[in-house]
Amino acid sequence: MATQSPRPVVAVLGLGIMGSAFARNLAKAGFEVHVWNRSPEPARALQAAGARVHADAAGAAAPADVVLCVLTTAEVSRGVILGEVAGDAPAPASVAAALRPGSALLQMGTIGIDGTQALARALQAARPDVFFVDAPISGSKGPAENAAVTILASSDTLGSSAPQPVRGARAEAADAAVAQVLEAISRATVWLGGAGAGTRMKLVVNAWLVAVMQGVAETAVLARALGFDAGQVWAALEGGPLAAPYVKAKLAKIGAQDFSTEMALKWGAKDAGLALQAYRQSAPAELELPVIAQIATLWQAGAEAGYAERDISSMYAYLLGEPADGRPA
Ligand SMILES: NC(=O)c1ccc[n+]([C@@H]2O[C@H](COP(=O)([O-])OP(=O)(O)OC[C@H]3O[C@@H](n4cnc5c(N)ncnc54)[C@H](OP(=O)(O)O)[C@@H]3O)[C@@H](O)[C@H]2O)c1
Repeated sequence: MATQSPRPVVAVLGLGIMGSAFARNLAKAGFEVHVWNRSPEPARALQAAGARVHADAAGAAAPADVVLCVLTTAEVSRGVILGEVAGDAPAPASVAAALRPGSALLQMGTIGIDGTQALARALQAARPDVFFVDAPISGSKGPAENAAVTILASSDTLGSSAPQPVRGARAEAADAAVAQVLEAISRATVWLGGAGAGTRMKLVVNAWLVAVMQGVAETAVLARALGFDAGQVWAALEGGPLAAPYVKAKLAKIGAQDFSTEMALKWGAKDAGLALQAYRQSAPAELELPVIAQIATLWQAGAEAGYAERDISSMYAYLLGEPADGRPA
């Protein structure tokens, strides 16, 4: 009879919308979960769910076989993982220094191509005995809570598509540990190649996401002007080839005027900007992605107008010129 490998110990660094959902699902599935968050409230909620709370990121990472880093930007992720801080502020203990030999660090925030490559290089230089996995997430709050996101993974050493798979005992153990953890938080992991490929695909997927969301928001604005509500728009689409579940969910939020955050507009604007930057770095100078460029500008303006913390579906309200305050976030 095949023996089940012991469950790896996991750390989750960053308990925002996505990190909290992952930590909760891992705790529910019986993993030993260590957590850290900059502000204490989300960690307290996770403690009640069985996670062990640490005062600093290095302390949470130290006992872990697999570390999930679910922070916001390249700068923030570097700060926490490498212990870098701007100016004269005292540097925190670095996660890199605390990692167990043979452990795997999964960078899951959407931090862009340059940010991912620089982080992978820096971690490799500091800790060649640790496995780096570029593992951004496709999916939002609901799918994360239901362990139904897709992980767009890539690594130079782990996973089925690593270009130079290292099949030593340590890599085999890390591979198995990573697979167990990803299985507990996602519906699927797509391995895409050497470290950085996951982030490249994430930017591709996000270009689609922001285009769909902006399309839904403008469609709902047009429908309203022509005398229809969001529910009637969905009824007209339902069952046909344009009726994506994502469109249904966002039309429902618009219909209910419920802009509670599943994906914050500020992160949507960031992601549109990262996709655009990636294209500009990769394509001939005379070519452009005109719609994504417009969305990046528009969503940034929406964020600056007070919608930054609201869901990306609040672009509907922004397009109608409604003030951002006065509606529950
Ligand atoms: N939400 C989605 O639908 C979704 C989907 C796919 C990918 N993503 C990406 O995943 C990442 C996380 O998204 P999210 O929605 O979970 O974001 P979120 O809810 O805003 O959480 C952000 C997390 O980062 C921490 N953080 C922010 N600035 C920090 C700093 N300077 N130092 C230390 N920690 C800091 C926050 O800590 P505090 O609690 O202390 O603020 C929090 O734990 C982002 O890159 C996002 O683009 C999001």
